[in-house]
Amino acid sequence: MTTALSSLGEEYALHLDAVDPLPARRADFHVPPATAGGYAEVAYLAGNSLGLQPRATRAVLEQELADWARLGVEGHLEAERPWKPYHEFVRDGTARLVGALPVETVVMNSLTVNLHLMMVSFYRPTPQRPAIVVEDSTFPSDSYAVQSQARLHGLDPAEAVVRLRPRPGADCLRTDDVLDFLRTEGHRVALLMLGGVNYLTGELMDIPAITAAGRAAGAVVGWDLAHATGNVPLRLHDWAVDWAAWCHYKYVNSGPGAVAGCFVHERHLADRSLPKLQGWWSSDPVTRFAMGPDVDPVDTADSWQLSNPPILAMAPVLDSLRIFDEVGMEALRERSVRLTGYLAELLDATCAGLPARVVTPADPRRRGSQLSVRISGTGAGDVCSRLRHEHGVIADARQPDIVRFAPAPLYCTHHDVWRAATALTAVLSSPRPGEKHDG
Ligand SMILES: Cc1ncc(COP(=O)(O)O)c(C=O)c1O
Repeated sequence: MTTALSSLGEEYALHLDAVDPLPARRADFHVPPATAGGYAEVAYLAGNSLGLQPRATRAVLEQELADWARLGVEGHLEAERPWKPYHEFVRDGTARLVGALPVETVVMNSLTVNLHLMMVSFYRPTPQRPAIVVEDSTFPSDSYAVQSQARLHGLDPAEAVVRLRPRPGADCLRTDDVLDFLRTEGHRVALLMLGGVNYLTGELMDIPAITAAGRAAGAVVGWDLAHATGNVPLRLHDWAVDWAAWCHYKYVNSGPGAVAGCFVHERHLADRSLPKLQGWWSSDPVTRFAMGPDVDPVDTADSWQLSNPPILAMAPVLDSLRIFDEVGMEALRERSVRLTGYLAELLDATCAGLPARVVTPADPRRRGSQLSVRISGTGAGDVCSRLRHEHGVIADARQPDIVRFAPAPLYCTHHDVWRAATALTAVLSSPRPGEKHDG
């Protein structure tokens, strides 16, 4: 098992799985069947887009359906897990996942809605500090969100929104680039809002260093943690992050469009001068049903809630968090580093000479469970389609030229990783008529 040749082989991948000190919890998940590639199940490397369904999710959902059928409206108080305080059941697990105090987190809405709710409170531009700063490769929805927030304040997004670009020739924006920008331009920044792990490149930013520098420059620092939550260990409270928002449908496996999460640092919780959009769930649960005309504020992240929790959408979050508590984020990170490192090794070896290049940082400290491969000569969508239909490998494409592979450590095996790298090599080595290899 020690020669370079054998380390690229299937036997070696199977050996790594056999001796894995923390094997994948594959049996806890539904892995879709494969229709190609000669294996029963797909090699699923798209958990950065949509995590797989935990097998226990169905029972958790069925419990709520049964309680609804049995109790109707009385389920608000009498369901096995009463619906009225349902968001309380997911609070502690969420707080552990992002390294927060329970009062600092709340599960609610969708990610973009939460980003907007946070920006309503924390993007407060002044003539001296008008800027809202994102990375140039921010997720398009975040781009639209910040532009619309600038407009809400009567500002021209072309001037108020600053997009940080990687240095010439670089694929990724580096932490140093952000720190340099803050040193010279920080005095103009009202809000810095970056992705903890960039959705396109898979780069993990240095969240504590950037947060500290942004705050020292007088800016508010918020994070979109869609690709970081459940992927890398987070300590939002200790890092003094102002606020953060994330989704639960990627690495947290709570299902398509699952209810999202939100963090507001303790130091802001009692600040009743913050502007907020409000609804009845912003109000103190003790007095909420007195049905008075005015909000009775609470000094926790709950005060950003608007509506009563969507129970059927929230139930899967409860079960996904249980799995994270059982495995532990630190142990999962160790497995993630090993698995992603193995993928990097295989891609380095197998893509040499092919029109493909990994753009994710090579340093494991600067990435999570994702490697993004830039492909030239063939559309990323076509490559993904062939990976799936010819090899039973699920990855995803970000147009025009990035294929993302995410060996999510909860359920991916070394063998899945080997299948993905081998399939990519096969696809790129045998272009279809009309495709060209231009190196
Ligand atoms: C980084 C990032 N931000 C925002 C979003 C938008 O999420 P939602 O549609 O849940 O609001 C996504 C979706 O994938 C994302 O990856």
